[in-house]
Amino acid sequence: MVRKREIIDEIEDVYRNALEELALIKDADSIENWSRRYLGRKGKINSLFSVFAELSPEEKRQAGARLNEIKNELGNAYEKRKEKSGRKKGDKVSLLFPGKPCEVGYLHPVTIVTRKMTDIFAKMGFGIVTGPEIERDYYNFTALNIPDEHPSKDVWDTFYITEKEKILLRTHTSPVQIRIMEKVKPPLRVVAVGKCFRRDDVDATHSPVFHQMEGLMVDRDIKFSHLKGILTHFITQMFGDNTKVKFTPSFFPFTEPSAEVSMTCNICNGKGCSTCHDTGYIEVLGCGMVHPQVFRNVGYDVSRFTGFAFGMGIERLAIIKFGITDIRYFYQNDLRFIRQFS
Ligand code: DAH
Repeated sequence: MVRKREIIDEIEDVYRNALEELALIKDADSIENWSRRYLGRKGKINSLFSVFAELSPEEKRQAGARLNEIKNELGNAYEKRKEKSGRKKGDKVSLLFPGKPCEVGYLHPVTIVTRKMTDIFAKMGFGIVTGPEIERDYYNFTALNIPDEHPSKDVWDTFYITEKEKILLRTHTSPVQIRIMEKVKPPLRVVAVGKCFRRDDVDATHSPVFHQMEGLMVDRDIKFSHLKGILTHFITQMFGDNTKVKFTPSFFPFTEPSAEVSMTCNICNGKGCSTCHDTGYIEVLGCGMVHPQVFRNVGYDVSRFTGFAFGMGIERLAIIKFGITDIRYFYQNDLRFIRQFS
């Protein structure tokens, strides 16, 4: 019994002393020193646990509980005291050392290229618009003069959300053309950027989700030469003044005539390599004069207005611009890849 009293008194003494000492401490180093002496592995509190040997089990339990309580309280007092102390005059801090560098974020290459593209068109007076990623069959296909039997409407190419109401994930940004023309009367000059979706298997050049930019200009007397001028300016701004641009006849249901645009391969400078299949040119986009049926679908007067449209894949442009070898890198969220382009 006597032994128990002694032990309890000893515990309480240590507790009181610890608090008194802590209250008198003035600098950060001494707080740490105090913590080591009382709360450290070989500190006073831990050493008190070992003097319990002569107590009965019940007494051990009581003394142990009290000691644990004290340990917690001293721990809290230590945290509070440390917080309050902050940095005091006399602490050894050199203001001559540089601060810890703070890592800023990086723009994703798709964002970098998108901004560059929209900047170039904005300087030519194009507005920037967006449209829904979940689209109606009418806007994605019908209004663009794409017939029902067109292979791109196949369930193997398009993600359908509902079969009956014909709602789908847009397969290109061209439906934004229709939406904007339904709202705005000519003249108009816009580019639309956004995500598109196709049922492609993932490989080095295909991704079921990707980005496109669409362009549309409508006014009186718009000619193919305007289209050529605008797109040639865009490509040389994007890839350098020495880039040569080539227009080749092609087909799209929503343009007539239609063309594919290629530029000199920036890997071999037009000499011929594996990237351009030895042709010296790589295809970058599709374009053409807006088909009169598309204008009729939105109620534009085809006797007064003409226009051109173009569409391109943003990942594709980024791949060409930065020499990226695999489209999958864009979506793996690997900082070692992403931080290379800012
Ligand atoms: N929508 C086409 C595609 O996804 C790209 C395109 C081609 C858009 C010609 C156009 C255009 O506006 O005139 O492949």
